[in-house]
Amino acid sequence: MKKSSEKTEKLKLNAAKFLKIIPERLKKIKDASSEEIKALRSYKPNLLAAELHPQIQHTTVAEIKKLTDDVTLYTLKADGGRLAPFGAGSYISVFAEHNGVSFSRPYSIASSPGASADGVYEIAVKRKDDGFFSKLIHDSFAVGTKVDVSAPAGDFTYEPLRDAKRVICIAGGSGITPFRSMILSILDGTEDFELTLLYGAKRESEILFKDELTAAAEKDGCVKVVFVLSDEEKDGAEHGFIGAELIKKYAPEGVYSVFVCGPQAMYRYLEGELPKLGIAGKYIRKEVFGQISDPCGEPDYVKPEKEEFELTVRQGAGEKHIKCAYNETLLSAMERSGIAAPSRCRSGVCGFCHSKLVSGECYTPGRCDGRREADKLYGYIHPCSAFPLSDMIIDVPYKN
Ligand code: FES
Repeated sequence: MKKSSEKTEKLKLNAAKFLKIIPERLKKIKDASSEEIKALRSYKPNLLAAELHPQIQHTTVAEIKKLTDDVTLYTLKADGGRLAPFGAGSYISVFAEHNGVSFSRPYSIASSPGASADGVYEIAVKRKDDGFFSKLIHDSFAVGTKVDVSAPAGDFTYEPLRDAKRVICIAGGSGITPFRSMILSILDGTEDFELTLLYGAKRESEILFKDELTAAAEKDGCVKVVFVLSDEEKDGAEHGFIGAELIKKYAPEGVYSVFVCGPQAMYRYLEGELPKLGIAGKYIRKEVFGQISDPCGEPDYVKPEKEEFELTVRQGAGEKHIKCAYNETLLSAMERSGIAAPSRCRSGVCGFCHSKLVSGECYTPGRCDGRREADKLYGYIHPCSAFPLSDMIIDVPYKN
């Protein structure tokens, strides 16, 4: 008990110190002469930081390739020069406008990290019937379309100090994209680990990059590929779902890591399967994309009596009143109402949508609550993963 109150006090102290730094910095910048500001802009580490972590990168759709009936591969080419480098497995936020409002969604980069030096990123987009953004991309992107993207982000990357040298990668559907990037980077020598891919799809016709993956496995002894089909039986492919038994069948001797990227149903199934492998939790890594679309399936969620709440959104000196259903995130409600709110991962992890809860109550599912303890203590929320439990007032930063 004593320990936890000491921890809380320490957190309060650190947060108070941190909160003081920002106004002090802003004041220094405000008081600085234009010469001093100019010098800062050309300061070498600042130039390098801007190149490595640009806020926005301007690209053009250079090529479009249909991979299956509902998945399309888009090649984005930098409008001049290179694109920011990244580790295989990273994602970018892709921006698109609808009715004058800018929206964004995260997509894993499917191409090799090496291609960014030539100014190229590739993303594969699956058209979802109930997915507003994927339809927007499929319907409006053509060769020559100008597309803004964020800097690469995320930590679903191979890290030799943390991960085992041998990795089982479990992909479901379009969740293959970060693993394609990893395989390409093993082939071109950027990454050095052994990768066994277990790739699940319903039917053979739904496997993305099938020939390319098969060729990669034939070319490099560090890459193994196993296709797993749930709805049909085919020679050379496993039949069924990817569970503990199948993973053990292909797992190497000794220590190995498991990386997972796929639909939420796959994560839910694997939650019961992965513990059967008996490997340490630190060796299990999951890509976290995906807004939880309905909180009702969460174990600790209690559905509120009301179905819809009033959400007051303060941005700077402005204030808007909108409606938010009990089963939609605050971010979705804002976007639906034309409020430009910041976002990146949309999974509660990156903190980019970080906003202040002024009043009211909301529910954040534990598995997508990436807030720091200090944020929770001082009433900050991530609107991308928060569902209303009452009328609410929130302070939201401007989108940049
Ligand atoms: S967008 Fe990443 S935490 Fe909300």
